[in-house]
Amino acid sequence: MNDPVNRRRRRVLCGIAALPVAGLAATEPTPSASEGPFYPPAGMRLDDIDSDLVKVADQVEQAGGEIVTLAGRVLDSRAEPIAGARIEIWQCDVNGRYLHHGDQGGAARDGGFQGYGHDISKADGAFAFRTIKPVPYAGRTPHIHVKVLIENRERLTTQFYLPDHPGNARDWLYRRIAAHRRERVTMRFETTAGWPQAKLDIVV
Ligand SMILES: [Fe+2]
Repeated sequence: MNDPVNRRRRRVLCGIAALPVAGLAATEPTPSASEGPFYPPAGMRLDDIDSDLVKVADQVEQAGGEIVTLAGRVLDSRAEPIAGARIEIWQCDVNGRYLHHGDQGGAARDGGFQGYGHDISKADGAFAFRTIKPVPYAGRTPHIHVKVLIENRERLTTQFYLPDHPGNARDWLYRRIAAHRRERVTMRFETTAGWPQAKLDIVV
């Protein structure tokens, strides 16, 4: 069994075993980005932190802005779904105001907008938010902040953008993303069932 032919055959078989299984090609992770200065601190979050940012519990007024659905799946690097991940999003309201003491913007905050919410991915990795299409604020192109935690550990912090917004080309954070990776953080809204919906998977 120790003849050179058998040794060579064993090496070849070991090499095959080390190759990725067909159909489970590695998937490039979603590009990460700065958390930014306005991650809503626990003390400023509303009591309502569900995945519907457009309707705040006990508030009659719905959020101003264009209402959209942002959905997708949380996947691992083999494109397998991750269940039980905590997906958080936060963004400014239609007036450009964040739920943060550090936001000293002059406009009034929209009391109908939740500003921050979360969802937990299902067995197939799916998550969904109802929110508003992001709007620009001083110095930034429109974006939605996203954070993914798995078993209470932060796995990804990033920002999602609108395609072809004129502000993207001037935005220093957007420009830092390699051009070929921008699609991974681009929300392409299409009107389905009467309102704009985007699907964007997150790979961690
Ligand atoms: Fe921001």
